[in-house]
Amino acid sequence: MADSRRTAPSLDRIRGAVHDRLQHDSALKHVTGTAEYIDDMREPAGTVQVLLARSPVAHGRVTSCDLSAVETAPGVVCVLRAADIPGTNDFSHGGTADDRILSDQLIEYAGQVMYAIVAETVHAARQALKLAKVEIEELPPVLDIDEAARREFYLAPPRTLARGDSAGALARAPHRLKGRVSNGGQEHFYLEGQISLAIPAEDGAVTILCSTQDPTAVQQIVARVLAVPSNHVTVETRRLGGGFGGKETMATHFAAVAALVARKTGRPAKCRLDRDDDMLITGKRHEFFVDYDVGFDDVGMLLGVEMDFYARCGNSLDQSIPVLNRALFHADNCYYLPNVRFTGYACKTHTVTAVAFRGFGSPQGMFAIERVVDAVAYHLGLDPLEVRRRNFYRDGSDTTPFNAVVKDNILHRLVPELEASSDYHRRRAEIAAFNAASPYLKKGIALTPIKYGVGFGLNFLNQAGALLHVYEDGSVTLNHGGIEMGQGLFLKVAQVVAQELQIDVENIRLTATSTDKVPNTVATAASSGTDLNAAAAQIAAGKIRRRITAFAADHFKVPEDQITFLPNRIRVGNQDVPFREMIHLAYMNRVALSASGHYRSPVNDYDPVALTGQPHRYYAYGAAVTEVIIDTLTGENKVTRVDILHDVGKSLNPAIDYGQLEGGFIQGMGWMTTEEIVWDSKGRLTTHAPSTYKIPACSDRPRDMRMAFAAWSENAAESVHGSKAIGEPPLCLGISVFSALCDAVRQANPDKPWPGMNAPATAEAILNAIELP
Ligand code: MTE
Ligand code: MOS
Repeated sequence: MADSRRTAPSLDRIRGAVHDRLQHDSALKHVTGTAEYIDDMREPAGTVQVLLARSPVAHGRVTSCDLSAVETAPGVVCVLRAADIPGTNDFSHGGTADDRILSDQLIEYAGQVMYAIVAETVHAARQALKLAKVEIEELPPVLDIDEAARREFYLAPPRTLARGDSAGALARAPHRLKGRVSNGGQEHFYLEGQISLAIPAEDGAVTILCSTQDPTAVQQIVARVLAVPSNHVTVETRRLGGGFGGKETMATHFAAVAALVARKTGRPAKCRLDRDDDMLITGKRHEFFVDYDVGFDDVGMLLGVEMDFYARCGNSLDQSIPVLNRALFHADNCYYLPNVRFTGYACKTHTVTAVAFRGFGSPQGMFAIERVVDAVAYHLGLDPLEVRRRNFYRDGSDTTPFNAVVKDNILHRLVPELEASSDYHRRRAEIAAFNAASPYLKKGIALTPIKYGVGFGLNFLNQAGALLHVYEDGSVTLNHGGIEMGQGLFLKVAQVVAQELQIDVENIRLTATSTDKVPNTVATAASSGTDLNAAAAQIAAGKIRRRITAFAADHFKVPEDQITFLPNRIRVGNQDVPFREMIHLAYMNRVALSASGHYRSPVNDYDPVALTGQPHRYYAYGAAVTEVIIDTLTGENKVTRVDILHDVGKSLNPAIDYGQLEGGFIQGMGWMTTEEIVWDSKGRLTTHAPSTYKIPACSDRPRDMRMAFAAWSENAAESVHGSKAIGEPPLCLGISVFSALCDAVRQANPDKPWPGMNAPATAEAILNAIELP
């Protein structure tokens, strides 16, 4: 794809068909540093730089803000204040109206942006920042979810998902356990920070190059902020250096600032956050604590489960309600729970707003139930895998807590296959023997499964558009509403078009996603990028194919059923016409060679208020076996081996999908182990750089990683060539690392059945959980 060299077309099989294993189209450019990101582009002449001024306190009122010395400092062009905003001072999505672009009065988190300094260079702006005289009257902040829960400081009313009689089941159960589990937040740590470059145009219009997962949202909100119609705002995105959910809503903030500065100065304006500013200003994954009450029988069947989910939402709503809903919808994970009540609380804290992060609440929901299952197993002295298997949804009949039938469950085949291929039972026995003989080093092992719901709950989001041009020389330019953020979306979509037109994939060039090519798009999120955009592109390519067929039939005077698309050529009766020649002929005969496609998936019956109906189109399944070793004297630990069997239906591109599987798992492992977000007692984030916030490095990747796809899996739902989504689900497999670490801690403390450890299991947390004799 996008390869300018034109090799001879292959005649037996096209290069880059669906299901082919191809490297990422930008792989070479990524590793050689030639893939162009916004900050790499040559800045237009006269570009000004924007620096955001952050609040040093978590909660307070700005009583005075004297920027006169800033405005006259060398290199400063102007300052941007809330009063400069012609439209609304708000970048929130979905009508929550609680995310101020510039907070010049009320401060609700340390890091909140108060105003912006516009200068010729970032350095000049930084120097000028020191001259600001801002006074803030501090107010008492609420800094943790515990306190928010105690004071019922919520951003929205609690929501409950219930089925059966959980109270009765708990009262009657032979065994009952209560406890609390918690997981930390997570920083997205995309390698490319947030960035927007706004270029002013005539009639008050603006073009914004923006690192965003949702160009249409940026367009709509910038239009609202500038008080212009949407057709005055064009948003363009070629690729992101990672998004992971962190550029779903957050990017709009910086696009809005850049657009405002461009409007005010008449000059191109770049708003690029450095790492510290990025980590201090932008939202993270939701931290949760969960109070559970579980009733079960002697063999570990879960009879009744009640869980209260408290989420750190930060100071504003953002997408916290859908995230919380998704946590509740995934708190069954793979288990049939006959009597259940899950309640979710959206806790407000004076910390940065929490946002979408790979999994969007599902990892938190799954983590809670997996901890509960582990607690039950340890209590009964059973292998946790045994308890897990007993509680699996049965094939095709059981319903979820929201009463949707789990039709496509494949865990009954997938898990035994993984048990066998990973040699789980033998290794578990070996680990017990090792631990008995090893006083300080202890090993642990765990198998955890996932069932991941794919598709947006809200119907209007399940749509996509594509635009396809075939040029006279047979080369193709393809556009769609999806965003390439490293996940390989562009290549997969190109493969689908290559398949449809039967041409080698390198003839198809994908150009930047832009709101003036394909309008009214949805965020590339919920792992649905391929499901939606490849389907739209397929529809557009199908139109071209049908037009060519009709033209060829007419031109060569043969019936349409004698026209077939073969690799790089079209068979007309008994004669082959190369694709390029056929396109040239079509052009000479005035056939339209451009088409758009629009796709919408089948409607679902989900009701986001009542929390009923099926919000997911299908499930992706998987399981991971992780083995770890811990040093009980220091808490140091290592993942020594991981075996994964994952379900991606019929993979569109196994090379890309392996990348997602491995990357997702490692990112989940980081969330579960070393990535710790720490606010100090005044609500200031202390972990705002890689020096204090530890993401997995190459050396943390388990040496022994054995990954496979369940190639036999079929996607029964409508999908592109039988594929399933893979963007987010593998992150949830990282939970197996936590379970394995708990297993090791438990084996270090054989008399203490329940390792009271919470995520992240840092070396410190592990050491604290161990009690040496
Ligand atoms: N992979 C890479 N390399 N970079 C990313 O930013 N984001 C993840 C996932 N995989 C991400 C990634 C998230 S949060 C989502 S929702 C999906 O990719 C989005 O892309 P898709 O729908 O095309 O899978
Ligand atoms: Mo992904 S969290 O849906 O961007």
